[in-house]
Amino acid sequence: MALTQTQQFYPGMGLTTTKAPFIEVARSRGELYIEQPYELYSEENHEAWRRLYARIQDRWQRYATEKFLEGVSKLCLDPNRVPRLDDVNRFLAPLTGFKAKAVTGYVPAYIFFDCLRRREFPTTITVRDINSLDYLPEPDIFHDIAGHVPMHTDKRFADTLVRFGEAAHTAARLVREIKDTELQVQRITSILRALARFFWFTIEFGLMRGKNGELKVYGSGLLSSYGEIAHAIESPEVQRYPIQLEWVINQHFEIDHYQPLLFIVDSFDHLYDLVDQLERWMLEGKLNNVAPGEPKMSEADIRSFLEAELD
Ligand SMILES: [Fe+2]
Repeated sequence: MALTQTQQFYPGMGLTTTKAPFIEVARSRGELYIEQPYELYSEENHEAWRRLYARIQDRWQRYATEKFLEGVSKLCLDPNRVPRLDDVNRFLAPLTGFKAKAVTGYVPAYIFFDCLRRREFPTTITVRDINSLDYLPEPDIFHDIAGHVPMHTDKRFADTLVRFGEAAHTAARLVREIKDTELQVQRITSILRALARFFWFTIEFGLMRGKNGELKVYGSGLLSSYGEIAHAIESPEVQRYPIQLEWVINQHFEIDHYQPLLFIVDSFDHLYDLVDQLERWMLEGKLNNVAPGEPKMSEADIRSFLEAELD
């Protein structure tokens, strides 16, 4: 995009997914963390938020896990305006120490997990186009703030995210000790693939047993999708199985259609224990040769682990 640093941004010019000059410029400068330039949101952005938020309320009541609904009320989100991250954090941080942190977009895998370890959640600040509320080519603020962040108010869930960060740290430390570069890349690719699959089938698309044995949604990809949240619970097309670590880490997934296979945990204690187990398996070498296939690991993801600053 032919924008220069001298070009002015003006209030209300919009922060729409893939059409936000502010984000383009920040990316072109190599910036990852940014301030949320709240005045740039357009009335159309606020209207998109209002519609997304209004239409999903009934579905949340029906399908979301209780912890999520409690989280939504604790965050006091404004149904009519795009949230300010500072406001969200004022409610969130005292509960679990987590904070939403504005980013320009894609965050390399190690940096993403390392943020979780420090109780920071990389948060997209753009809003999807009002004309395609259902189609989400990449995360937006509705996915990140309305889908993810309410879960971060729950202590056990928040601790689970931190454990993911710690597991990634362990992975970086493990491969650091390998001298053969080719083997090092092969090893981290496999471990990261296992981590990414586990994150996908739990944090993004997880189901949980409710108090009376009914299925509830806690995965953010489902919680931020008006169509898929119902499909995940109701459709006979979806396979739903009790989670098994050895299955999940070897199961490929695709991101461009509704998920045909979902996994169920019993509780957030259960989920936390599984991340513990994942890290143990990593240390025992059980993640060194997981099944090939999606997701593909980008060079930036691999590099982020190999070049990680380890403390
Ligand atoms: Fe997500």
